[in-house]
Parts: sequence; C-alpha cells; structure tokens
Amino acid sequence: MVAQEEVKDVFVLIGASGDLARRKVYPSLFSLYKKQLLPKNLAIVGYARADLTLSQLKKRCMIELNPEEENIYDAFWSINYFLKGSYESEEDYQYLNYFIYKTVSKSTNRLFYLALPPTLFEPVTSNIKRYCLPKTKGWTKVVVEKPFGKDSESAAKLTKHLSLLFKEEEIYRMDHYLGKEMVENLLYLRFGNRIFGPTWNRDNIASIFISFKEPFGTQGRGGYFDEFGIIRDVMQNHLLQILCLVAMEKPCSTAADDIRDEKVKVLKCMQELTLDNVVLGQYEGDPEGEGEAKDGYLDDPTVPAGSVTPTYALAVAHINNERWDGVPFILRCGKALNERKAEVRIQYRDVAGDVFLGQSKRNELVIRVQPGEAIYCKVMTKTPGMSFGLEETELDLTYGDRYKGAKLPDAYERLILDVFCGSQMHFVRSDELAEAWRIFTPLLHKIEKEKPKPIPYKYGSRGPAEADAKLAENNFKYYGSYKWTKPSSL
Ligand code: BG6
Repeated sequence: MVAQEEVKDVFVLIGASGDLARRKVYPSLFSLYKKQLLPKNLAIVGYARADLTLSQLKKRCMIELNPEEENIYDAFWSINYFLKGSYESEEDYQYLNYFIYKTVSKSTNRLFYLALPPTLFEPVTSNIKRYCLPKTKGWTKVVVEKPFGKDSESAAKLTKHLSLLFKEEEIYRMDHYLGKEMVENLLYLRFGNRIFGPTWNRDNIASIFISFKEPFGTQGRGGYFDEFGIIRDVMQNHLLQILCLVAMEKPCSTAADDIRDEKVKVLKCMQELTLDNVVLGQYEGDPEGEGEAKDGYLDDPTVPAGSVTPTYALAVAHINNERWDGVPFILRCGKALNERKAEVRIQYRDVAGDVFLGQSKRNELVIRVQPGEAIYCKVMTKTPGMSFGLEETELDLTYGDRYKGAKLPDAYERLILDVFCGSQMHFVRSDELAEAWRIFTPLLHKIEKEKPKPIPYKYGSRGPAEADAKLAENNFKYYGSYKWTKPSSL
C-alpha cells in the first residue's frame, strides 16, 4: 500500500462491481500497473452498491494471470480500496469523500470513472460535483461511456448537465473503438505516407465500406439492447467515428482539438440518414445451430415479445464536400452473424481504358480492425511464370506476421492511460456528439414511430440478402473471387 501522504492521484471507479468494471476497467488498470504505466502514487477506490469485500472484488475480476504474475497482482490490489454506497444518496457521496480524504489521500487529483448505466450519469455526476471534488488544487477528470443519450434531445440534455458541472477539458466521453490499434492508425496511415493522399478522393475511390460483424447475439443483454438497437449500440458511435477518421482532411497538428475540429467538419457535411437508404434485420434462431445459435433475438427472455428492434443495420451515408461528393460510405453492423470482424474497405474505381479485356478488378485497401490487425491492398498482378494472365493478389501488412510477438494493448488500456496523460485526442467532444445525433435522430425516430419490420436473418448467416443488393447499388463491387491468404508464418 502507498502511504497515505504519498498518494497524489485517486482513481474512483463508480460501478466497481459491474460487468464493465470486471471485464475491462480492472483488467486494464492491472495491465497498466504491470507495465509501470500508472502514476506512481496512485490509489484506486472502487465504489458500488454491492455488499462486497475487496478480496471478493479481486476474485470477481476477469484477469488471466501467469503464475509468475501473482505477486504483482497482489501488489496491484494493495493500492485498491472498496467502499459500498448507493448511487443516488447524497450522504453516501459525502462519506465517499470523507473516506478518500481520511483513508486514501489528503492532497489529490481525482479521476472518476463511471462504469454505470446511462440513467445514473446525471445523479452521480451531480453528487460527485457537490461532494467529492478535491479541496486542494488537484485536477478532476470524469470518464463516461456511451450511450450518451438516445437522440439529439436527450444527448443535448446530458451535455448541458455535464457542462454545468465540469469544463469540457475535464470530461472524457469514451468510445472504445477510438482506442483500437487500427483505428488510431488511420491517422498515421493517411497522413504519414505520400502514397495514399493523392488518391484519397472521389476521383479515385468508388465507395467505402465500414463493417462490424459479431458472431453472437445479445447474450442475455437483450433488455439493454432492446432499448437501444444496433444503430445506437454500434453504428452511431463506433462506425461513425471510424468514418470521420477515414474521411477528414489533414488536421493542422495532432493536437486533440485540431483532430476533433476536422472530424466535426466531416459530420457537418453529412445529411441526415433516411429510411430508404437503410436495411434493417433481426436474427432468428438456427434450428440446426448449436447452443445459443438455436435462439432468435425474440427468444431472449429479456427482450419484449414482438420487438422490432434491429440487430443488423446497413446504412448508406454521403459526405457533401469537394473530396467525397458522390462516394457512398456504407456502414454495416450486425449481431449473430457468421464471423467476428471489423474492417474498413476502401474500394477504388475501375481501371480506365482497361487493356486487359475487362479482367482488371478493383483495387481495395482493407484496414482490418479485428481480429488479427492488418492492412492489405488488393492489387492485380501478372500470373507468375510463363502465363500472360492477370490475377488478384495482395500487398499485405499483417501485424501478427510483421510484428511477431508484439502484444497490442486493449483499447481500454490505452484510453485509460490517455485520461491520466490528459490527452483527449481519442475522446468524443460535445459538438461532435451533437452532430452525430443530428445525422441519426430523424431515422431513429422514424423507425420508432413506424416500426418497420426488420428482415429476418438466420443466426450465423451473412445477414439479409437485401443488404448485398444495397451494397451493389452503391458502387461496391463484390467479385467473390478473392480470398485473403494467411501468411504462412502465422
Ligand atoms: C459495445 C457494444 O460498445 O461494443 C456491444 O455495446 C459490442 O454490443 C461491443 O459487442 C463490441 O466491442 P469489441 O471491442 O468487442 O468489438
């Protein structure tokens, strides 16, 4: 344990017994601790309603340990505290403050991480502001995770609430996709190379496809999910953030606000989405599947009977600026599909005046976010040897092959470190959020009002066939002939 007078920074994890804390926040803190990346004089205070001891909390955390790490793990828990308290009672926050002051540290910087459902954001942040801010000159930071509201109106209300309590520099709105290696890499790839820049525009690019697929359903989270649906759960945040990084102009520097200014400009050039540019689906059980796959979305007991909430959505967006006019940005996300994959596909236009009798297929630059981070470019090449044929191949940068043995940190780990460092580059600013909701709110309201029946698709399938048709209509060509080959060293 760090002596009380030495503790300078306190990380207060509100919702310490919940799923997010167990699966992501504690494991990330431990990983940072192991790498000695946490501030030296840090203490972590878990706060939750559950009646737990610190050692019970330690056992509940999902951290895989090698035998040689057990001592470090114990050392990590020695900087931890746990306090039981309600999320809404003012007295409990007064006590939390007293506890930190008395037991943990007198002079502190305080970081509050809300691993909580969004309904609690407002009462919890009000109580933090009122009772738990450091008395001395230390800094305050507040981390909140999506969903940030459900539409423009509720998001504006939350933004206003937070802005009355904290300065924008103190608020870290987390979208964990911004902490993924390949999402962060978009900036480096685009602006650290000469090769891509000149072709990164409507003159050369036919369409851009940003896709997220998961091979499992709601996994008992149907109650939460049904209120939000896949558009709010994944598309409005994770996929839209990726779109911004793919589409934005070069920022004047890598400072957080310069980057976020450029992202906001992209969003401002986007029109509101309309239902005719969207395909919605909902998974059904596969009678021949195994385990969870037998159940459809509506078989989840936490999902209301007859729900028409989409578990799959494909939407076509446009950016009305000089670079992207006419280029469809196709966003697709779905649960209970055939594989786990998140990627960006930048599909180039057909070769003009093809001398290979129409055999040339489109180039595609693929940025695979997960699993198996990779960047590869589909190119045409002469069939090796005596042949005069032409065939598809790839220029391939597969991380597992090129950076063998390198262990990439989890997104949460990076983002928590960013918060300690005070870097907001990978966090969502309030104006960005408002623009994101502007684009999606009319569509979401229309879906809620008209309740269009989503197209059923089988658990474990590629999703509704109508989505493939939409891709084809939007200048994305699928040839079906190319197959990425895993490097032999993997
Ligand atoms: C979350 C969504 O934000 O992202 C989940 O709420 C989704 O529904 C998850 O499963 C996907 O994250 P990752 O990092 O596993 O791709």
